[in-house]
Amino acid sequence: MADRSTTILVLGAGGLVGRHLAALGTPGLERSACDVCSDADRARVLAEYRPRAVIYCAAQASVDACETDPGAWAVNAAAPAAWAREVPLWYVSSNFVFSGAGPHAVDSPAAPLQAYGRQKLAAERGVLAAGGRVVRTGWVYGVGGRNFLSTLPAQLRQGPVRAFGGMNIQPTWAGDLAKLLLTLPAGVTHAVGCETTSFAEAARTVAAALGCQAAVTEVLNPQGLLAAARPADARLEPATLPGWSTRWRELLAER
Ligand SMILES: NC(=O)c1ccc[n+]([C@@H]2O[C@H](COP(=O)([O-])OP(=O)(O)OC[C@H]3O[C@@H](n4cnc5c(N)ncnc54)[C@H](OP(=O)(O)O)[C@@H]3O)[C@@H](O)[C@H]2O)c1
Repeated sequence: MADRSTTILVLGAGGLVGRHLAALGTPGLERSACDVCSDADRARVLAEYRPRAVIYCAAQASVDACETDPGAWAVNAAAPAAWAREVPLWYVSSNFVFSGAGPHAVDSPAAPLQAYGRQKLAAERGVLAAGGRVVRTGWVYGVGGRNFLSTLPAQLRQGPVRAFGGMNIQPTWAGDLAKLLLTLPAGVTHAVGCETTSFAEAARTVAAALGCQAAVTEVLNPQGLLAAARPADARLEPATLPGWSTRWRELLAER
């Protein structure tokens, strides 16, 4: 049996952040090995692995899907709090707990605009009340990701892409977030890339490297085009992780 004093166990290990934690040698369980919403799975896993802490990466991470997915509350809000009551838990939260004008500081008032943000905020409160730790991040991209930034090279190779231009984003390389997670401080930490760009600008950078600049169409206003409302400016401060310009090439190198 693993030694409780050393094992940090990742839940939701098959996702974007989970895969980057695995690449650093952190053991983890994919959904098929542990449904985080199952009380029986939680009891079995805690008895079997006796982890010193768990890094909770399981999620319904699609902001739009959370508006209608009946299972989203359980995985994003209820389950992390339930685990945190039984084991030290480090929770990956989101900049979407905020609305309005950023950059948002750790102690800025939260006011989520959509179901996803309300779920993440409820989880934060449950986890912190149980003594767990929280990191808020945003616009995470990397190997194995299904979101816009992660899939940019593949999308551009297939044809034109539409990308939002009117939104400030701080792209965050999943490998940098994973490293920080392994030494996450107590309380709430903000962790995003230190450079601000837009989805359209990011897409143009990758398109130029692939020789297909004309493939990017800039869409100025995302409001109304997406199922869930987005904060006008969801940037976080402090922004301490390496920025987009120093990391985006990893998307090309690793695919
Ligand atoms: N990616 C971003 O830009 C971003 C930004 C801010 C915060 N975050 C947060 O960062 C965390 C990790 O996100 P991510 O980008 O790595 O998401 P992801 O790639 O969608 O990974 C989430 C993983 O959780 C799994 N999962 C879903 N329901 C589960 C359940 N009931 N039991 C066990 N596993 C389950 C998913 O499995 P299936 O594939 O089978 O569904 C998937 O492998 C999430 O809390 C997310 O909210 C992400």
